[in-house]
Amino acid sequence: MSSKWQPLDSMARYGTISRFLHWSMALVLAWQFASAVAHWLFEDTTVEGFLWGTHKIVGTLLIALICIRALWSLYNRGHRPPSLNIPAQLGHLAMYVLMLIVPLLALVRQYGSGRAFEPLGIPLMPGFEGGSIDWMTAPGNLLHSWLGWLLLVLIVGHVVMVFVHRSRPRDEDVLARMLGNRQN
Ligand code: HEM
Ligand code: HEM
Repeated sequence: MSSKWQPLDSMARYGTISRFLHWSMALVLAWQFASAVAHWLFEDTTVEGFLWGTHKIVGTLLIALICIRALWSLYNRGHRPPSLNIPAQLGHLAMYVLMLIVPLLALVRQYGSGRAFEPLGIPLMPGFEGGSIDWMTAPGNLLHSWLGWLLLVLIVGHVVMVFVHRSRPRDEDVLARMLGNRQN
């Protein structure tokens, strides 16, 4: 079978659905971190006004995408390209955990604040009277931004390692698993 369309993963390459989830999430996360950087460094500028206004909506989209991606990766377990080594395996796992926990902490904080939350007009959280719920807001206040930046550090390390593997003559070019047309 020489077709490039391959929905499921194989031992040699990630399939079309895993690739779509990986690259589309990379783009959406790049936007999300651009909004975080604008909030951190360019407060009260037009750039921040534009980007930061999307942070909660895009973050909510990301938690939906990561749930789908995690389920898809479990479904493909046992027939997807094996990690090159244990640090790579742990690095991928840590990115999954952070991609889930970072928006989750923020959404729990959002709920606990008692303020209504309606991304794109969808009534996700109705809001309530009587003050905020501390045990829901405290973890997000403490950890959301720090763990968000930690995720960014892991992503940068991940990209660097992809090119390190690619540049070593006798190493496996992992980019071909996620981008190339390698068969099987
Ligand atoms: C994967 C998804 C997300 C990532 C990677 C992310 C990342 C970040 C980062 C790095 C910061 C720190 C910005 C700064 O230092 O000024 C931040 C702040 C913030 N994020 Fe997110 N975020 C995500 C999802 C969400 C969601 C879903 C919400 C709300 C529904 C949210 C609400 C906030 C708020 C209110 C702040 C400012 C307060 C704080 O620093 O904790 N984020 N986010
Ligand atoms: C937001 C950014 C990114 C995140 C969160 C991320 C996360 C991941 C994760 C969790 C995996 C394991 C396979 C999976 O379950 O999907 C993976 C694989 C991979 N990623 Fe990324 N990635 C990002 C960006 C990039 C970029 C920009 C590149 C390009 C250099 C890249 C290249 C790869 C490659 C080549 C693999 C296959 C590695 C292997 O099979 O050992 N990733 N990525």
